[in-house]
Amino acid sequence: EKAGYKHFMAKEIAEQPGVLADALRHYLKDSGTALSLPEEVDFTGVDRLTLVACGTASYACLVAKYWFERIAGLPVDVDIASEFRYREPPLSPTSWALFVSQSGETADTLAALRYAQEKVAKIVSVVNVPTSSIARESDLALPSLAGVEIGVASTKAFTCQLTVLAVLALKAAVDRGRLNPEALAGHLAALSALPGLMNHALGLEDRIATIAAQLAEAQDVLFLGRGAMFPLALEGALKLKEISYIHAEGYASGELKHGPIALIDSHVPVVVMAPRDALFDKTVSNMQEVMARGGKVLLLSDGAGVAEAGAGIWQSLTMPMVDPFTAPILYALPAQLLAYHTAIAKGTDVDQPRNLAKSVTVE
Ligand code: F6R
Repeated sequence: EKAGYKHFMAKEIAEQPGVLADALRHYLKDSGTALSLPEEVDFTGVDRLTLVACGTASYACLVAKYWFERIAGLPVDVDIASEFRYREPPLSPTSWALFVSQSGETADTLAALRYAQEKVAKIVSVVNVPTSSIARESDLALPSLAGVEIGVASTKAFTCQLTVLAVLALKAAVDRGRLNPEALAGHLAALSALPGLMNHALGLEDRIATIAAQLAEAQDVLFLGRGAMFPLALEGALKLKEISYIHAEGYASGELKHGPIALIDSHVPVVVMAPRDALFDKTVSNMQEVMARGGKVLLLSDGAGVAEAGAGIWQSLTMPMVDPFTAPILYALPAQLLAYHTAIAKGTDVDQPRNLAKSVTVE
């Protein structure tokens, strides 16, 4: 069943170029040059989106917020399901609520969906299990098409959720008159390039394993990112803590000096997830603040970023160049591999981490 891999997690990480290509074949048409979504996905007249999920799925929602707001100009609220439902937030009848879940059975997410029913114009879900409760109780359930995910730590489901959300953001942008045909073509080409780029990223596994062997010595690790890479920092930290049991936190790079920088010393590795984009220079200065305090920086960037970051970095991982739009999807892979190989170095149970269940059906 593990098809020659040591763990389901390793198999599921490696499957990502393939399942992502499947998802793109489903949600794009005309050789990837046009969107292909059910007719009822029409954002005309929708003035706000509320995105709700738990854990890794909630980080997919946080990335999607950047996309919907930047590309489609559509305001988005993101909440974790356990807080959303008890806060009893007002929801507008001209808004949509969107629920993201691998299992489709997460108790808090399902309860949040039921709370939103009758209050919003449409309940949409992005689910990996099409027969699940969340899928059944939605007005429209969009499959994330990752295939069965067995490893408790979510990997391929996350990148497929992101892909569906990216396609939805593009559709919203088109419906709202925010995207001309050339700009849409550019975004679609970026999506279609992902499976190839993912194969490239998977090719960095040996290098990541070498770095992970050293990361395994750490007691605490910080992850930093800016813009749409900030939720990836949260995801990198969650993946690491849940399978290697190393304490890890994700922060927005700019938040560092508002507190967490007090933690920096030579024992706290800081993973900086920063492709060479418009915000890169700001991240470099945050990185220098870390290094000036003796912090060990592991930089995940592309060749241009690694070259520009300069001396003093502890380790760097050179990723392929990627369009800023799809960078968060690609950078999930090194984050997953880093967590996986750190856990292997520590000898923990990667597929069945202590205290965790694949599907959380109680509050
Ligand atoms: C982390 C992880 C969890 C789930 C969360 C939501 O690797 O797997 O954080 O993402 O429990 O589960 P679903 O997506 O099934 O609702």
